[in-house]
Amino acid sequence: MTALTSLAKITKPHVPDQLLLIDGKWIPSVSGKTFETINPATGEVICRVAEGDKADVDLAVAAARRAFESGPWSKMSASHRGRLINRLADLIEKNIHELAALESLDNGKPVGDAIAADLPLVIRAYRYYAGWADKYHGKTIPVEGDFFCYTRHEPVGVVGQIIPWNFPLLMQAWKWGPALATGCTIVLKPAEQTPLSALAVAKLAQEAGFPDGVINVVPGFGPTAGAALSSHMDVDKIAFTGEHTTGQIIMEAAARSNLKRVSLELGGKSPNIVFADADIDAAVEGSWFGLFFNQGQCCCAGSRLFVEESIHDVFVEKMLAKVKAQKVGDPFEQGVTQGPQVSAEQRDRILSFIESGKAEGAKLLSGGGSPGGPGYFIEPTVFTGVEDHMRIARHEIFGPVMNILKFKDIDDVISRGNNSFFGLAAAVWTTDINKALKVSNSLRAGTVWVNCYDVFDAAAPFGGFKMSGIGRELGEYALQMYTEVKTVYMALGR
Ligand code: NAI
Ligand code: MG
Repeated sequence: MTALTSLAKITKPHVPDQLLLIDGKWIPSVSGKTFETINPATGEVICRVAEGDKADVDLAVAAARRAFESGPWSKMSASHRGRLINRLADLIEKNIHELAALESLDNGKPVGDAIAADLPLVIRAYRYYAGWADKYHGKTIPVEGDFFCYTRHEPVGVVGQIIPWNFPLLMQAWKWGPALATGCTIVLKPAEQTPLSALAVAKLAQEAGFPDGVINVVPGFGPTAGAALSSHMDVDKIAFTGEHTTGQIIMEAAARSNLKRVSLELGGKSPNIVFADADIDAAVEGSWFGLFFNQGQCCCAGSRLFVEESIHDVFVEKMLAKVKAQKVGDPFEQGVTQGPQVSAEQRDRILSFIESGKAEGAKLLSGGGSPGGPGYFIEPTVFTGVEDHMRIARHEIFGPVMNILKFKDIDDVISRGNNSFFGLAAAVWTTDINKALKVSNSLRAGTVWVNCYDVFDAAAPFGGFKMSGIGRELGEYALQMYTEVKTVYMALGR
């Protein structure tokens, strides 16, 4: 791949201090406060970022409201909006190495992963929604009586978007793509751990020609800036990705303020099921990727790995060989497959899960600690003998910790697979089409992968059943989350 061969050229960027983007202007926060963003591979400060709070959110929402109601955006044709989104995609493509380096520096993911996995999905998401801008239209409806009846799909208005730190650029694209395509205006609060790439893309959006106030970016913390956005009386919709408990707080704030629309993409404890008849090497490879990709910091990680009894031992042996070959280190170093966790807080949270796994009697076969040093690294960890009731089998660990559970037969594994308050994703590995279909249809999950894992496309919806969320991102489905349907009846002249 061309992107990978040029990896050697990518160096750690030097990043100046950052401001907020409100109404097309780069400004300090009203309070004058700033916060540090940290390189998780070294624990060093990358730069300081203006810290938004309620007063800044108020300014950003007012700017977004003006842009929505009276700015050039409100009169712009849908196809012109599509052209601007495509221009943004072009600029992201042109700056792919700079953006990947920034993402890697702030988040800790291997820079090769950012280039080969994150950025292509980001570009594809913008291009996909650019195409939708002038194609998401209403219907004419044959009603009783002498009336002409039609629907309009109108933008929901000013949207607040709160995103996490695990895929900062991608989560921004999933949120901005449908919002911009439908004609909404945006106030984005990136995660406090990873604000840099969102600000860089906002600069590119200005270059692409989005009018002032259409896109506002207010970095800051959750209980301050995030809470101000979700409880704001003039925000029409809030879109959130992150922890399910944060989703509950946001939904409550939305309900108690102005009943703004809410879409939530929350966590998971996704069952990944390997039958004895599976192509075992493919299942090992896919299950390894499905858990360890992105340092295990994936909402859809296959974090309950169910392996059929008769192949359990051989599967575990092959998996251990794969896990031991993992190269943990500086995300800018060639050949590194696992970088640091995003923060010291996340590292410590993962270590406490590992301790609970040991205390509850799971068998630790590999890793289990932090190699130490200033960065927030965790050794790739594998537990076997995991049982359904254990904490590590019920809660989202969000780290490189694989839990292997044994199962007896298809009915046993379907009921245990569904025994979770989450329902984000699932996977099944088998060469038996009947098993594949039965499991896919029986699991209560928003996405099921058969003989693959972590396949994503901007055209296909993603989201959760149960406490994994509300609504769907990506695909045509996401457009519903950013529009109101208006019905117009017009009496025909008699
Ligand atoms: P979080 O849900 O607290 O943070 C995500 C975003 O929500 C950030 O932008 C944060 O500033 C914001 N936020 C936090 N509290 C808020 C509030 N009261 N009102 C409005 N916005 C708020 O996630 P956190 O604490 O960073 O990570 C904790 C755990 O959450 C992880 O270990 C993982 O299990 C899960 N998580 C899941 C993600 C997913 O993709 N589903 C992404 C990030 C975290
Ligand atoms: Mg939190």
